[in-house]
Amino acid sequence: MQKGHSAVLAGLGAWLPPRVVDNHELSERLDTSDEWIRTRTGIRERRIAGADTSTVDMAVHAGGNALRSAGSDVVDALVLATATADQLCPASAPQVASGLGLHGIAAFDVNAVCSGFVYALATAAGLIATGTADRVLVIGSDVFSRLCDPADRGTMPIFGDGAGAVVLRRGETHEPGALGPFDLHSEGELADLLIVPAGGAKQRESADPHDYYVTMHGQTIFRHACARMAESSRTVLERAGLDVADVDRFVGHQANIRILQATAKQLGLPGDRVVANIGRVGNTSAASIPLALADACEDGSLQRGHRVLLTAFGAGLTWGSTLLTWPDVKPG
Ligand code: ACO
Repeated sequence: MQKGHSAVLAGLGAWLPPRVVDNHELSERLDTSDEWIRTRTGIRERRIAGADTSTVDMAVHAGGNALRSAGSDVVDALVLATATADQLCPASAPQVASGLGLHGIAAFDVNAVCSGFVYALATAAGLIATGTADRVLVIGSDVFSRLCDPADRGTMPIFGDGAGAVVLRRGETHEPGALGPFDLHSEGELADLLIVPAGGAKQRESADPHDYYVTMHGQTIFRHACARMAESSRTVLERAGLDVADVDRFVGHQANIRILQATAKQLGLPGDRVVANIGRVGNTSAASIPLALADACEDGSLQRGHRVLLTAFGAGLTWGSTLLTWPDVKPG
């Protein structure tokens, strides 16, 4: 990327619905236990959005917090990463922009499910690199609990709802906060590993109510997630001329603590560099990475000057990674 055309992180915001659902509460209505969920996933509790709270609502809260953190509400584009848009059509991003009072700006959705935030960062960096935008609000917001069958112990314990956001501004390649390089991939042949079969434009209706909920092949996804996130992490490090030892904080998609640990092990990364907030939020899909960044800033484990590796994996399949040095930014 040319000097003066990098995307630099300038603000960070998070928002979680207030309702906490812990494993004990889930165990009362599902054939599961706190012990199983904790030991197999690392999740203790998650937030579940109330019926009156949507992806757009959560995105407005997180986006507003990121603008406050950046100290300016001037942006000329908004990219919303989500797999749970309020409607099938239109995209939700314009409604988020209006909700934030950002009238007239470019606004669109990116759907790469749990990799959505990294894809949206790359998209925003492209808008900045081409001079299309100077400042971009990137939001990940998902209400994934709505896609889960309330009676399914295989998916209900894993997912939670929430939103996270960053402000990116035009800056220079070597300044703190500059994002890149990026590495992005997909493999559509494996779409069936995590899919909501009905309700989309191809199959609007189904006689089987289960078709409206997510079906997931957990073990196969687990293996792909570890291999792909490790591979993609190595690719961005290599492109940046860095080594695994140069990574201070590893912020991977929070899908399962065992996936994070196994990926770090494959990379040869010490466990104390792994950022994990999955215990309190579960898998929040496109919101996972900014929520993990915000929590790590709050608890002091992520500090200015840390070299941070972001890597994500999601349904599609999709995966991708990027790097930055943490700037002087705190959650708003
Ligand atoms: N409580 C109790 N038992 C359970 C539960 C539960 N909630 N869920 C499954 N089990 C049982 C199974 O029925 C099985 O029983 P059996 O041995 O009698 O058949 C046993 O526990 C083991 O099941 P596995 O599926 O082998 O368990 P595993 O250790 O693989 O953990 C899990 C399952 C947590 C889903 C794991 O595979 C995983 O995290 N996979 C990745 C999922 C993921 O990341 N999805 C999101 C992708 S990102 C996106 O884009 C949305």
